[in-house]
Amino acid sequence: MKKNYISLITLFILASCSSVSEDDLLEPIILEPGETVNYTEDIKPIMENNCTFCHSSPPVNGAPNALVTYNDVVNAVNNSNLIDRISRASGEAGAMPLGGPKLPQNLIDLVIQWQLDGLLEN
Ligand code: HEC
Repeated sequence: MKKNYISLITLFILASCSSVSEDDLLEPIILEPGETVNYTEDIKPIMENNCTFCHSSPPVNGAPNALVTYNDVVNAVNNSNLIDRISRASGEAGAMPLGGPKLPQNLIDLVIQWQLDGLLEN
């Protein structure tokens, strides 16, 4: 009994130590049936981690627009080819993030799905 208890604790500790690896990032994102992509939970973190370094408000490093608010990002999808820009190969003219590696495909897919779902805020 005591032994079982200890292995349960060990299991719990191991499970809570898991971290996000490169492999996790490349796995496709599977949405539950009926689940939609939304800006606040899914898209905002992608912009904060990869884009607002330049696309801040006001934008810096030559970026023409901010990608800080929901409206900023919706505008860029609708009028500034945001999805096309992040889909270009690294090093291709106009590829975003500028100078950086291409985003992992699962994150690009998430932005594409966000558009298909209707660019929901929440
Ligand atoms: C190192 C700075 C930098 C980073 C990081 C960066 N950008 Fe840019 N971005 C620029 C610059 C400079 C331009 C203007 C030149 C051009 O259009 O290619 C630009 C232009 C754009 C445009 C076209 C805007 C327009 O009105 O024509 C979009 C869309 C865009 N970026 C999206 C993104 C997204 C999405 C990310 C994150 C995945 C990102 N950028 C990361 C610097 C950056």
